[in-house]
Amino acid sequence: MACFRTRPAGWFSIILFISLFTLFCHPAGSVKHKDFKTCEQSGFCTRNRRLADSVTAQGDPYLSPYHIDPRTLKVTNGQLEAIVTKTTLTKETFTFPLLISFLDSGVARVTLNEDKRQRGQIDLRHGSTARKERYNGAAAWALTGDGLKTNANIKVATDEQGFSKVAYGPDNRYEATIRHNPFGIEFRKDGQKRVKLNDRGFLNMEHWRPKIEKPQVEGQDAQAPLTSLEEDEGTWWDETFNGNTDSKPRGPESMAMDITLFGYEHVYGLAEHASPLSLKQTRGGEGSYDQPYRMFNSDVFEYDLDSPMTLYGSIPFMQAHQKGCTTGIFWLNGAETWVDVTKSKSTANSLTMGLGGHVDTQTHWMSESGLLDVFVMMASEPADLSRLYGELTGYSQLPQSFAIGYHQSRWNYVSDEDVKDVDRKFDKHDIPYDVIWLDLEWTNGKRWFQWDEHSFPDPISMNKQLDESHRKLVILTDPHIKSEGGYNIDDELKSQNLAVKNKNGNDYDGWCWPGSSHWIDSFSPAARTWWKSLFPYDKFKGTMSNVWLWNDMNEPSVFGGPDMTMPRDNLHHDKWEHRDLHNIYGLTFHNATYHALLERKKGEILRPFVLTRSFYAGSQRLGAMWTGDNLAEWSHLQASIPMTLNQGVSGFPFAGADVGGFFGNPSKELQTRWYQAGAFYPFFRAHAHIDTRRREPYLLGEPYTPIMAQAIKLRYQLLPAWYTAFHEASVDGSPIVRAQYYVHPSDEKGFAVDDQFYVGSTGLLVKPVTAEGSTNVDIYLAPDGENYYDYFDYTIHAGVGKTVQIDAPLEKIPLLMQGGHIIPRKDRPRRSSGLMKWDPYTLIVVLGKDGKAKGSLYVDDGETFDFQQGAFIHRQFVFEPEDGLRSVDLAARKGPKTADYLKVMKDVRVERIIVVNAPGSWEGQQSVRVVEEGAKSGSTNAPLSWHAGGDGKAAWAVIRDPRVGIGRDWRIVFS
Ligand code: NOJ
Repeated sequence: MACFRTRPAGWFSIILFISLFTLFCHPAGSVKHKDFKTCEQSGFCTRNRRLADSVTAQGDPYLSPYHIDPRTLKVTNGQLEAIVTKTTLTKETFTFPLLISFLDSGVARVTLNEDKRQRGQIDLRHGSTARKERYNGAAAWALTGDGLKTNANIKVATDEQGFSKVAYGPDNRYEATIRHNPFGIEFRKDGQKRVKLNDRGFLNMEHWRPKIEKPQVEGQDAQAPLTSLEEDEGTWWDETFNGNTDSKPRGPESMAMDITLFGYEHVYGLAEHASPLSLKQTRGGEGSYDQPYRMFNSDVFEYDLDSPMTLYGSIPFMQAHQKGCTTGIFWLNGAETWVDVTKSKSTANSLTMGLGGHVDTQTHWMSESGLLDVFVMMASEPADLSRLYGELTGYSQLPQSFAIGYHQSRWNYVSDEDVKDVDRKFDKHDIPYDVIWLDLEWTNGKRWFQWDEHSFPDPISMNKQLDESHRKLVILTDPHIKSEGGYNIDDELKSQNLAVKNKNGNDYDGWCWPGSSHWIDSFSPAARTWWKSLFPYDKFKGTMSNVWLWNDMNEPSVFGGPDMTMPRDNLHHDKWEHRDLHNIYGLTFHNATYHALLERKKGEILRPFVLTRSFYAGSQRLGAMWTGDNLAEWSHLQASIPMTLNQGVSGFPFAGADVGGFFGNPSKELQTRWYQAGAFYPFFRAHAHIDTRRREPYLLGEPYTPIMAQAIKLRYQLLPAWYTAFHEASVDGSPIVRAQYYVHPSDEKGFAVDDQFYVGSTGLLVKPVTAEGSTNVDIYLAPDGENYYDYFDYTIHAGVGKTVQIDAPLEKIPLLMQGGHIIPRKDRPRRSSGLMKWDPYTLIVVLGKDGKAKGSLYVDDGETFDFQQGAFIHRQFVFEPEDGLRSVDLAARKGPKTADYLKVMKDVRVERIIVVNAPGSWEGQQSVRVVEEGAKSGSTNAPLSWHAGGDGKAAWAVIRDPRVGIGRDWRIVFS
């Protein structure tokens, strides 16, 4: 058992070792709740919830103590500035500069800073050298700078009643009404009220104040009740949790605000939580949680399901959707954040003129420190919102094509011979895979960049064997560096001053896999430059161009630390406290590795592959994520679906869960069903804890191994459709797998459905089996006027806004094709995706009820950035009854490399076209006419065979080898 190979010395260390042993090396169990704060254990969460309660208790009219001084209002270049003043119960006033930016896109950004802290006019306690301002660096990490252009044509009118109205956005269809006293902003689009900030008066900017030492009077109860003018200071100046005390040198500095979303019953997003896709209420109401959704990146292994508890990553972006409109709130803050969600139903009355009731969702956002920086986005459909959010934070990385194949991982493959053996066995059992993974144990005692020479004496020969079948190796590297004199990496980290510091300014020392460790401060440009210098192949021996990286434990995870992470009063580059940017740390490390991999060898520019466990808004630009340490249980398989869907809604769609479950040993049935579901995760990787039994798919035997192999082969068959979906995500932010509400935004019955999903815009609808012993599933079909066809045998299911039952014996994945789509495939599964590169395509044309169908295909070299210079093929396939099937160029963006790429691809052709729901008029027809751009002969013929359906199945036809190029215009005429 290799959970901990190195042991700290001394009694403290022995106790620590025993507690860590029980933490990590016990059979599958459940999360250690006591290690993670609840709202009641978090000072600022409690304070803000209390404020909300007291405001609610006061009822109407409650006057929030914040107002705009109208004399300070200024409008320049699409931005409105003013000073917001807060008056306390003791009549003191504090000022907060307000900046509202109205962006060209129609997005509004509201930023509130704190005058005193901004000017540095505060004193820090305990001799702290931390920065005095509210943290303003989140934007630099999360935003790309695109989409931030302000709209100089806004129209502003301020009236006598103390309201400023701003018309903005495309065609000035957006309106913000800023109420001066009390301060609040209401947003409308096309006259419809959508959002209100500080609607319920929960805005709270905790201003800086000096600590006033109150002498303890003998005999007086320290817990004496507060007078109405006093505030509870209990957690202002320091806070202890699990034996760790946070020194809080800047005192209380939280900020919070309520945001009401009018008419929205469903809100989504706020990754990462193991909760249903449509977020639940957190303060009362049927089945609600009693805790707010928490965002504080933490190593919460064996996490609870159906819980608002924090997990490894945070994306403070929420989508609210109702029929006809979608609204987004992006709360740009890197500190710990809690969000309460409540819903209130208003019933029809005479004032609503008999127009039925509706539900409003009320949210309350609370962050420990930093600026109030919130983006309000109003759109018509979820897809518009994904685009707007992507314009701000960047779109998902277009990965190398191997990354969307199947990944085989476990903790651990124990030697280079073991890896070679697994590689050979996949071939022997005819199971494709693209990547094999090495967890911690590839290292020499958890020293990154050093191989364990006994177990991995010859990594290059291992990499070369993998390379023969175009396969890759991914190895793990974490942000903690073993603290050990003589370990060159640690020596450099320390001597170059690149580690995270403790509150006293010394290198922070904590505990992780290697024992005593330091953490790279990846906020520091110098640290990132140094990190880059470690990866060139001649320096990082044993690596070559098919070796990629996995960044784990980057929350950062610190064993025995508060909330399993580092102290909040630790210091980073530029003296920012850890509390300010905790949720961004994981992104910065992921970013450092991404950039390091770009510069391993001069002239070799391959798209980096880096998997991260921790993430923040913007991480989607850098690679993939997975949902961490789940359990080999059916409930975790179920939960993985809403979690993966929510990653898409939250703008980071390259996501998946450990297939098979990390902790514990799955039954053969569970593992098989998990492969069938995993074949439809954007990130498809099997992974397992070191204590689990080996479970490579070829080990399970009949009937399981062939069924899992089929699932993997299905993934490979559909790789062209997957890659096209990844491309879409990389240009418009759309999720790679899409929830029912996203694809059918007008069908209210589908708004809470989160156990089935679509692959990109292919019309492929999958409903994984997630219950033990099930041999059928209920699948909900939208009333979209289309039929849905079984992927494997073309059985017809009518889409009518109801649930249909589909047989799903163990060997079957419930997979349907929505009428009206064209799906690109490759039907010659090989050992890896790289070996399929030049294979011909099959097109599945699923005719809709109107006899039409459409679909697209994106192809590029799958490795380099040449696509940015036009080296890609982007085609739309259109079938219309009169015209037949056409391939149309969608590549609006040609570039210097377009022509060469088309030349390289000139022999890659379509080898088969299958038409599902083929018209009966084709019966007896022997051939079709093929007209191709540039062909010498005017047209050629290709054989057609038509097959009657019957017995509930659709008729279908096959056109064999039409010999049309994938990169050319062509047309197939059927009459
Ligand atoms: C925690 C990760 O979540 C898990 O996937 C990995 O196997 C272990 N760390 C060991 O590196």
